Amino acid sequence: MKIFIDTGSLEEIEEAYSSGIMDGITTNPSLMKKAVEELKKSGQMLDMEDYIKRILKAARGTPVSLEVTSSDYEGMVKEGIVLFKKFNPVAGNVVIKVPCNTSIEGQNRHFDGLKAIKALSSEGIPVNCTLIFTPEQALLAAKAGAKMVSPFAGRIDDFIRLKNSMHFGKSDYFPVQGIEKDGKKLEDNGVTSGIDLVAQCAEIFRYYGINAEVLAASIRNTRQLRDASLAGADIATAPLEVIKAAMRHPKTVEGVKVFSADVVPEYAAMGNGK
Ligand code: E4P
Repeated sequence: MKIFIDTGSLEEIEEAYSSGIMDGITTNPSLMKKAVEELKKSGQMLDMEDYIKRILKAARGTPVSLEVTSSDYEGMVKEGIVLFKKFNPVAGNVVIKVPCNTSIEGQNRHFDGLKAIKALSSEGIPVNCTLIFTPEQALLAAKAGAKMVSPFAGRIDDFIRLKNSMHFGKSDYFPVQGIEKDGKKLEDNGVTSGIDLVAQCAEIFRYYGINAEVLAASIRNTRQLRDASLAGADIATAPLEVIKAAMRHPKTVEGVKVFSADVVPEYAAMGNGK
């Protein structure tokens, strides 16, 4: 499974890529807002275009998802083309992120996302379809030509908890005790957790030989990262803290301490080239 970092922070991207194992970057308007606010707070001048170019170069040839901000078909296509033409020449790694459906209450724009994915993909622009909360949204997005589809694991967990008045912290693993609470089956629309959503998308794609990659997004803890790989996700995108936490274990710390203490001088001398 490929591992992407989910951030708009250049500092975090550079730290993650120093590991040598990163496969890509996902951004969204909220992550960019957080990064921009932090830069401004630290008194740094911001040239947005230059900042994006630095992110693209820091990705070392791996894909970087840049999200459109329009919500109508024409606007998303125009913006996707502008972003791709402006930034793809920098490092050849731009992917345009398009929500599967931009319709909000009272609007009938149910197909604008799909139409935009189709139009951008037909121009040869790779699309990451975002805000996927059901396997059927993933299927339709893949049919429209998306290269990647992003089921939001953490946010579907938030949704199921809220719908069933369960209170957990944002980074808690879910389901904590299966899919029942107080002897009642949870209202979950047949998707029992964020990871179950990822697994269902992966299963459908496998079943039909669909080439789009399942990108497990909204990953908030290391168990979700592990479970995304067990569920057959092609990619998981996670914040830097989750990627770092995936490397931690108290027994690793203990082992490092014991091994360091046990090194005899003769053995240490060999590694020092003496
Ligand atoms: C990724 O593409 C999404 O933008 C991101 O994973 C959302 O994560 P969140 O639900 O923790 O904000």
